[in-house]
Amino acid sequence: NWTTGNIVEEQVERIRQQVGDARVICGLSGGVDSAVAAALVQRAVGDQLTCVFVDHGLLREGEAEQVERDFVAATGVNLYVANEQERFLSALSGVTDPEQKRKIIGREFIRAFEEAERAIIAEAKASGEQIKFLVQGTLYPDVVESGGGEGAANIKSHHNVGGLPEDLRFELVEPLRTLFKDEVRAVGRQLGLPEEIVGRQPFPGPGLGIRIVGEVTAERLELLRKADAIGRAELTAAGLDNEVWQMPVVLLADVRSVGVQGDGRTYGHPIVLRPVSSEDAMTADWSRLPFDLLARISNRITNEVDGVNRVVLDVTSKPPGTIEWE
Ligand code: XMP
Repeated sequence: NWTTGNIVEEQVERIRQQVGDARVICGLSGGVDSAVAAALVQRAVGDQLTCVFVDHGLLREGEAEQVERDFVAATGVNLYVANEQERFLSALSGVTDPEQKRKIIGREFIRAFEEAERAIIAEAKASGEQIKFLVQGTLYPDVVESGGGEGAANIKSHHNVGGLPEDLRFELVEPLRTLFKDEVRAVGRQLGLPEEIVGRQPFPGPGLGIRIVGEVTAERLELLRKADAIGRAELTAAGLDNEVWQMPVVLLADVRSVGVQGDGRTYGHPIVLRPVSSEDAMTADWSRLPFDLLARISNRITNEVDGVNRVVLDVTSKPPGTIEWE
């Protein structure tokens, strides 16, 4: 008889068998898959697991804290945090081309992750141990049709391919390989993970870096984070989290338009709301959000976020528009 409790027990047993008393490493992205995979491994082998969180500074408001504070509190996991905000900002400096941004973020992510791995390997070596395994949050649909997945935060295929230095070759632990997304969420809840992580909507690996049309700067990230937090809070308050697949909030940093606020002329940036309904992100339709919700989001963003004087709604389906703007 199939229950979430059975899945947890079965996977914990399998992980113990595979790993024995070796040490294990796991990257956390802030997303649900890596969090649930890590929590399962933690349940199975405890302190043999070390998690790595590369904070690239492109997450949304509160997301780094959800990993560093709430996930750790819920699981008791050993966490190694690499604070790499400066590194990503300087690598992205002057870059406006979307593909270029994605490549840079992906490349820096892998480098930063490997540096963290080396630091942990060195620390293990000093105490006479060896890191043998790497946890991956591969889901059943990824196994069937590889291609989907976590993008820049995707180290999935990376650690299997040849050409990796000897000290970074690991055997994979993939405790979610037989599960669908809704089962992964159920397992996460069973393991007591915070709802903000378990219920999180899809978010691209390159993060807010591809939701700023134009150059990514610290100020623009700050501005977009505020606008996005308002959009998310209002959507949740309206009880629409389950209707809406995801709602990217995009800053058009290279566009300015004239406005009037108080008794002065403004010349600010537009924020785009991109709420979509979808089954699998391959196709999508724009969500018909209630007008009063849209009005509330628009009022709040223009009042509360300095530098934004206009909020626009994206009414394009996919195709022809992709969900993200870059
Ligand atoms: P698009 O914009 O292609 O997005 O319609 C489809 C879905 O994929 C997400 N997305 C990504 N996810 N890494 C990811 O992990 C990425 O580089 C990436 N780009 C897009 C997007 O949020 C949507 O859910």
